[in-house]
Amino acid sequence: MKVDSDKIILGIESSCDETSAAICKGGQILSNVIATQSIHTTYGGVVPELASRAHMQNIVPVVDMAIQKAGIKMEELDAIAFTRAPGLIGALLVGSGFAKSLALSLKIPVIGVHHMQAHVLSNLIEQPIPSFPFLCLTVSGGHTQIVVCRSPLDLEIIGETIDDAAGEAFDKTAKLLGLPYPGGPLIDKYAAEGNPNRFSFAEPQIEGLNFSFSGLKTSVLYFLQKEIRKNPDFIEGNLNDLCASIQQTIIQILLKKLKKASLLTGIKQVCLAGGVSANKGLRKALTELAGQSKWTVHIPSFEFCTDNAAMIALTGYYHLLHGQYNTLDVSATARASW
Ligand code: KG4
Ligand code: ZN
Repeated sequence: MKVDSDKIILGIESSCDETSAAICKGGQILSNVIATQSIHTTYGGVVPELASRAHMQNIVPVVDMAIQKAGIKMEELDAIAFTRAPGLIGALLVGSGFAKSLALSLKIPVIGVHHMQAHVLSNLIEQPIPSFPFLCLTVSGGHTQIVVCRSPLDLEIIGETIDDAAGEAFDKTAKLLGLPYPGGPLIDKYAAEGNPNRFSFAEPQIEGLNFSFSGLKTSVLYFLQKEIRKNPDFIEGNLNDLCASIQQTIIQILLKKLKKASLLTGIKQVCLAGGVSANKGLRKALTELAGQSKWTVHIPSFEFCTDNAAMIALTGYYHLLHGQYNTLDVSATARASW
């Protein structure tokens, strides 16, 4: 009989616009298959109904491929972990419905995983893993959080956005510049050639460790309207500098609060998670700050920063190790506290 630490878990992620499946055996990721939905580019953002339909089309081949790549048989699975919340409800229902049906047919337990906890634990996928406790700045299209992680299942949010997420700040300002969705990677690309000090945008004054990004979008909008009245080609002529200046403002907002969190908690082990952690400017600025502040920094590989099932499978593994699993009446919800 297998001991708990050898258990094989299928992870399923379907909270937004990535359909992903992964196999985790004894805490090691054997496969991580991700199908990204490109259909949303045409609409300038994720269309929930289209996301659900694409998940329906993708889920069987993606799970099949994850099992094949891991070199295991379906019958060897000990449990199925799936993203229970938060996310687009139609998209979550595809993953949870599939996970529960397969678990029922294989007579194995399901584990409902909180997507944001899983993002933090993506830092435990690759060796060397950070030591506990660590701080994690999770920056994605839907969330911005600073989390203290004391052990895999002991996580506490100590700061979060009160409005837009950091990824939204990138995507919405990119849209104002006429860039397609998702604009974050494009701002990153153009910023590399631009002067970050050319334009300045107001930074929010929010108390404590919380963030606010909605004012930045308005500030960029008013600034562009004013400049375009004087010069209709203003954006085209200054795209690199605009991207570099917007990116620098977002990074400063994020790192100021991260620095404060480290001072308040005394924790110098700092991790990143979420799609925005792919940003080259953020990575560079964090590395520089780490040098000055004597932090140890850990950033997962890109495939584990954006939405992926490896982090769901690994989180499921830790739940299973602690005897935490669900019965089939566990349901997906768009929002959920930890
Ligand atoms: O974690 P993620 O894949 O999905 C969510 O759970 O939201 O994050 C997606 C977000 C998008 O807002 C996207 O623009 C942003 O991550 N992003 C970036 C970069 N790559 C992805 N933002 C800035 N620079 C990047 N290189
Ligand atoms: Zn995510």
